[in-house]
Amino acid sequence: MTEDEQKQAAAAKAVTYIKDGMVVGLGTGSTAAKMVDLVGEKVAAGLKITGIPTSEATATQARNLGIPIVGLDKVSIIDLTIDGTDEVDPQGRLIKGGGGAHLREKIVASLSDKMIVIAETKKKVDQLGAFKLPVEVVQFVAPALKPRLEALGCTPELRLTKDGTPFVTDEGNYIYDCDFGKIDDAESLALTLSTMPGVVEHGLFIGFADTVIIGTDNGIEVIEI
Ligand code: 5RP
Repeated sequence: MTEDEQKQAAAAKAVTYIKDGMVVGLGTGSTAAKMVDLVGEKVAAGLKITGIPTSEATATQARNLGIPIVGLDKVSIIDLTIDGTDEVDPQGRLIKGGGGAHLREKIVASLSDKMIVIAETKKKVDQLGAFKLPVEVVQFVAPALKPRLEALGCTPELRLTKDGTPFVTDEGNYIYDCDFGKIDDAESLALTLSTMPGVVEHGLFIGFADTVIIGTDNGIEVIEI
């Protein structure tokens, strides 16, 4: 299977977990977009769900497909969230935020009874860290935070858009993509980043994934964490 087919297969398996009446967190990114398309088809065929989008892009896609969506001001418990990832390790720990939506994605995942992660096979890694860790920071403190992030042992690069201006998240923040190399102690790094004033959120998702669905050359692999 091509990478695109692997993503599609993982998305197709994940939507079989959605039942009538559920509140469903809708992830962000190219894999999640395939899942949202499939949810749209199910809704058109009569499925009744309430969607909680994890980004403005996903909200727009869901609206266009006729999926009913609400914000977190209306719903505090989410039955199931389905989202993509940039890396997943054997313990189900993730690096997310390649699409810059990890702040809302983590909040939605944290309010969910179950999180299903969907990905193509190359996202499965033995150790996290080949993908640069996205760290979302408040704009005005970004320059001052750079040396502090470097002091943690990484090379932070301010994420830029195609026209060379800083990428701004849905919540109005900047992102440093931080090259730590292989991350030996993800828990400790997550804690350090979470307690750093000016850091809004980082892309380490530890203890969130319940089920990981990987599209592979030979079909799908379902891993229960
Ligand atoms: C967005 C994310 C995405 O889920 C992650 O970047 C994977 O994206 P894709 O499915 O396009 O590879 O975390 O913030």
